[in-house]
Amino acid sequence: MPALPTLEDGDLRLRPVSLPGDIEVAWSWYQDKQTLALSQRPGTEPLSRDRVARMYQYQVEHGDFYIIEVRDQRDGGLWRPIGDVMLAPDTLPIVIGDPSARRQGIGRRVLALLIARARQLGWPTLQAKEIWLYNVGSRRLFQSAGFVLAATGVDPGGQPYERYRLDLRPPD
Ligand SMILES: CC(C)(COP(=O)(O)OP(=O)(O)OC[C@H]1O[C@@H](n2cnc3c(N)ncnc32)[C@H](O)[C@@H]1OP(=O)(O)O)[C@@H](O)C(=O)NCCC(=O)NCCS
Repeated sequence: MPALPTLEDGDLRLRPVSLPGDIEVAWSWYQDKQTLALSQRPGTEPLSRDRVARMYQYQVEHGDFYIIEVRDQRDGGLWRPIGDVMLAPDTLPIVIGDPSARRQGIGRRVLALLIARARQLGWPTLQAKEIWLYNVGSRRLFQSAGFVLAATGVDPGGQPYERYRLDLRPPD
């Protein structure tokens, strides 16, 4: 399999995850209850390092898995990891783990990089499989990037979700 490329947009980049090196910073993102309720399930307890390592291994095996980084000018231009995202044709889980980096347009720029990548790979569609109905920010993010509501459902735990899809095929 060819190595994953790093995807860049100015002071933002998506670089392939590095294991086990990235587990320590990622672990810190998965201690926050609000982040967990939005990205996992409501009531999810903080994840252990082992659990994060297993989750990351799964994502590496099931898609193109990236660490989201921003260039920190105050820190000599070093790239600072702030979250993770997986690109696969049927799912697009994204977590900006650092809450202070949210609502600044980063999620939208991450999606733009991944949409361009999926087009380059010739994929016909992209999909955000299950977004909890209460996750207003994530629903807005995908809507704003042009994804349209494709389905609604309820997970086995009784939690309502929405599914969003983006058609990448050129119009006839
Ligand atoms: C959801 C998430 C990825 C969005 O990324 P972001 O960088 O914060 O979003 P952006 O700043 O690019 O905003 C994109 C759009 O969503 C809106 N938005 C983002 N967060 C919002 C919130 N909490 N409430 C309402 N709208 C919100 C923005 O106003 C913007 O709308 P616009 O395009 O109409 O102007 C990020 O907030 C996050 O990681 N949250 C925690 C984990 C999570 O929910 N992951 C998704 C699981 S499905």
